[in-house]
Amino acid sequence: MTEEDVQHYKIIFLGDQYVGKSSILNRFYQDKFEQDYQATIGLDFHSKNVEIKGTTIRLLLYDTAGQEKFKSLIPMYIRDANIIIVVYDITNKDSFIHTEHWVNETKDLKREDAIFVLVGNKIDLEETRAVSHKEAEDFAAEKGFLFHEVSAKTGDEVQELFTSIIFPEMSRKFNIGDEEEVKNEQEGENNKNVKLGQNMDGPKKKGGCCGGGKNKPTKIENPKSEESDEHN
Ligand code: GTP
Ligand code: MG
Repeated sequence: MTEEDVQHYKIIFLGDQYVGKSSILNRFYQDKFEQDYQATIGLDFHSKNVEIKGTTIRLLLYDTAGQEKFKSLIPMYIRDANIIIVVYDITNKDSFIHTEHWVNETKDLKREDAIFVLVGNKIDLEETRAVSHKEAEDFAAEKGFLFHEVSAKTGDEVQELFTSIIFPEMSRKFNIGDEEEVKNEQEGENNKNVKLGQNMDGPKKKGGCCGGGKNKPTKIENPKSEESDEHN
């Protein structure tokens, strides 16, 4: 498969300063963690190829800056994102309260074609937790967001956030998946009498995405090689 055939999907990370957006991304992207805080300036960009149900896709990872002075830049990046992840710190109540700004802002864009995820970070600091799992889960459900809690520091649940929460939803919503793999999985799931998802009742077009045109994956010119880093 050539680079040209690979579909691109844009993921944007939003949330207050210091909640751990860059750390979650670093953990996912290169399985690393830095204790020292280095504020993101403007926006950082990474990309990574991943496989979803036998189909290789490229994730374009946009890491925004939480600092107030960069806030005005963000809406233009949200507009064409395929996946919008809003992060808060479970030990910082204000950071949770502030997610409402991004939740409402993204919902106002009426992006029914996008995937929305609320992520509580720093679960290694359970003893200083200030936002209960239930409270955040209820809020996410009310707003139509998926929800997961992670620790970028220990790596706990970070890969699962992608492999168990985001990728299955991408497969369902964007019809990603090798025909054979999806069929096998469906058969397996049917045998277990578990319903996979409402749109999983037919074979998937290989590498296909987004019949209606609205939720087309992001297309970029000159995609970088396997994994790349850019600082804007
Ligand atoms: P901005 O770029 O300013 O918006 O911040 P950010 O949201 O990208 O936060 P960043 O990833 O830079 O992390 C902020 C601080 O929290 C750093 O000192 C990290 O080491 C720390 N941190 C991030 N994730 C975790 C975590 O899961 N647990 C703990 N204990 N600390 C974390
Ligand atoms: Mg950052």
